[in-house]
Amino acid sequence: MAAPTLRQLDSPFQKIPLIQRRWTNSPAGAMPLVGPLIDSFGRIHKSLRVSLTDRCNLRCTYCMPEEAAFLSGEHLLTGRQIGEVVEVGVALGLDKIRLTGGEPLLRKDLVDIVNQLGQIKGIRDLSLTTNGILLKDLVRPLLLAGLNRLTISLDTLIENTFSRLSRRQGLDRVLEGIAAAKDAGFQGTKLNAVILKGINETEIIPLAAFARENNLTLRFIESMPIGADPWDRQAMVSGQEIKKILEDMWGPLIPEPNQNPHAPAMDFHFADRLGRIGLIMSVTRPFCGQCDRLRLTADGKLRNCLFSLQETDLRDCLGSSSDGNELKLRFRQSVWEKWEGHEINSARFLKPERTMHAIGG
Ligand code: GTP
Ligand code: 5AD
Ligand code: SF4
Repeated sequence: MAAPTLRQLDSPFQKIPLIQRRWTNSPAGAMPLVGPLIDSFGRIHKSLRVSLTDRCNLRCTYCMPEEAAFLSGEHLLTGRQIGEVVEVGVALGLDKIRLTGGEPLLRKDLVDIVNQLGQIKGIRDLSLTTNGILLKDLVRPLLLAGLNRLTISLDTLIENTFSRLSRRQGLDRVLEGIAAAKDAGFQGTKLNAVILKGINETEIIPLAAFARENNLTLRFIESMPIGADPWDRQAMVSGQEIKKILEDMWGPLIPEPNQNPHAPAMDFHFADRLGRIGLIMSVTRPFCGQCDRLRLTADGKLRNCLFSLQETDLRDCLGSSSDGNELKLRFRQSVWEKWEGHEINSARFLKPERTMHAIGG
């Protein structure tokens, strides 16, 4: 198959190639039925983010409403069903699985799920994104069950700001969770921070200093229109602005060599090599052209984009009577139908019905 034609962005961030045009004009009927999970723009999909629950013990303003209508238990995929979906996905070439929420640590059978997924051959990377509140006591069981990596949200080091942003308390517990992950021996732990003007923009330096002291990777994420409140673009702090603030303090950020072209973050280190910084510029530098990810919601819908307006139900083709062929077909169809990219920066943008907590962070 011919590779898609790529064009380099004219920007200081030369990493992100844009897809110039669809590499085939084949109608959906010509979707390949063998080979990797490929979309009609030539993007091969390798990564699946599995939401285990839409519930959360925080209420971050950029992510979810104060009052959310959560899925009832019978609508959630069981651990066994999740295993079935992941196994089929892996047979189709997925090799990177991230467990998300809401808050995945609220799921009572989490360790069993990790154990089950840990045994699927072909998964290269099994990771989890958490807000850290319940992490301290779960860190060791998760490591023993086969989890490879953790990402922990940390938007602030000030309790007042934490409760303003998350509408709950618990910064101490998050910090304890981060320390516990380190003590347990988790490698490659990342911290995620969404920075909002007038709320936590003064925390850019303290958060980076924390990452440097603890030798962690801190990613600054541009806030996206995927929360419950109307999105305020003016409140978003861009990756470029953050880069400048960090460089004024610690000198030039040096791009990491050999970056994963499919990862949303541009990774950097400082000259003294303390900590690492990632900039996730989903709004100002969308990485859609290199996207290799799919999402499974807690109620069993496959989403081919964070911002998808359509979903593919997988639930009704799960179970012992299924031979997996229908599931494979739905995976392929969903990927094939993927659009070119999100429309955040255009007048055509339509916010999905689900907010972030119900999709998976
Ligand atoms: P690893 O590479 O596995 O460490 O994870 P990651 O770089 O994919 O990052 P992570 O899963 O922690 O995602 C970080 C943030 O990037 C999320 O919280 C979102 O804000 C944003 N993000 C993740 N996936 C997407 C996506 O598909 N589209 C967009 N626009 N943003 C995303
Ligand atoms: N914009 C960007 N990132 C978001 N997250 C949640 N809501 C948003 C948003 N509106 C990310 C946070 C959190 C993860 C679970 O999801 O970074 O770490
Ligand atoms: Fe919960 Fe994460 Fe959403 Fe915050 S960002 S409300 S921690 S799911």
